[in-house]
Amino acid sequence: MIYLLSLVIVILLFIVGALLRKVYDLRLDKPSPGSGGAEASLKTTWGKFDELLTSLLTIHEIGIVNAGTIKKEEFYRTVLENACELINSPRGSLMIYDSQADELTIAASKNISKEVIENTRIKPGLGIAGRAFQTGETIFVTDPQQNTQYKDFIGKEEQRDPFIAIPLKLKDKPFGVLNLHLSRDKESFTDYDLKFLTLLAGETAITLENIKLYESLENFYLEMVQTLARVIDAKDSYTGDHAGRARHKARRLAQELHIPEQTLRYVEYAALLHDIGKIGIDGGILSKPGKLTQEEYEEMKKHPAIGYQILSPIHFLGPVAQMVLYHHEWFNGMGYPEGLKGEEIPLGARIVATIDAWDAMRSDRPYRKALSHDIAEGELTKGSGRQFDPQVVQAFLALENSDWPVIK
Ligand SMILES: [Fe+2]
Repeated sequence: MIYLLSLVIVILLFIVGALLRKVYDLRLDKPSPGSGGAEASLKTTWGKFDELLTSLLTIHEIGIVNAGTIKKEEFYRTVLENACELINSPRGSLMIYDSQADELTIAASKNISKEVIENTRIKPGLGIAGRAFQTGETIFVTDPQQNTQYKDFIGKEEQRDPFIAIPLKLKDKPFGVLNLHLSRDKESFTDYDLKFLTLLAGETAITLENIKLYESLENFYLEMVQTLARVIDAKDSYTGDHAGRARHKARRLAQELHIPEQTLRYVEYAALLHDIGKIGIDGGILSKPGKLTQEEYEEMKKHPAIGYQILSPIHFLGPVAQMVLYHHEWFNGMGYPEGLKGEEIPLGARIVATIDAWDAMRSDRPYRKALSHDIAEGELTKGSGRQFDPQVVQAFLALENSDWPVIK
């Protein structure tokens, strides 16, 4: 419904934009005496409208295309940047309401000191931003130095320029405030500034709601697959929360290997879900205490492909299915299912392979006790360059031997 509504709004804006452009073109085709001023004004108006459309589309696209990947902080920053650009504002902030603490804090800022960002906590109803939030009305402050409420909101450095506080609302419920300062070369905000900012605030609210919906859907789905992963752990002969441990280590190891934040999340999911295909393998084979027969082993080798089939239709998991498919490939090409070699194997799969092997060696199995740390390290080193990526093994052991230090 929200998708549809925001799509209709953007389409309508396009139609109006196209009409404006048409009118503007006609005026240029047939210049009339003395119309220079009007043309210039129309040109400025069109230019502003074009900027607005670009801003709205940027925000809209974030909500529709990037809803599953963009972080809220990044989204807030984009909104603020677009709002500042739209009215040529040199400074501003986007505040978000924290219902638990019952206060507004700065979620994105432009040209505001670090100290102000960290110390600004506004209760609803207090200060200008607090009042805009509580009343749901836009507030102008033309002379901040004369306004006693203003000092609660911004420090001395920022007290000189007039500014505007626009509440961000969804279904009449405020969730934040957009504060924008006036550029020095302007005396006041124009009607267009106001209308454009109101539209921008509206699109922001819709997009944010969309991002939240997507996140809750994603969380719901992840909880479901985590439950599935635990079911597999229980069915398999590993002890404890194998998938959970693997997930935690994969994230940290991927960070150590300087994998970008986005891919890092996928590696984490791959570690959590790498054995999900075992759901399709006979329980007798999974929990067999002794060595598997050739036939049983061939059956067991199907689990990466089954995992791939389960995960590949799920859009938000992106490359996770591929990482799962290749988590039993060997660095020297002797693994399965396809015998990929070296960097042909996705890095996420190479990470999962290393972590998985370590966890298997360090766990009690039905047919043997857990290997000691030193023996497991020796085995992993022996497999480096053969079964495992040497770089991954090196980074893994460095982390394992320093107790997985947290990145600050
Ligand atoms: Fe596996």
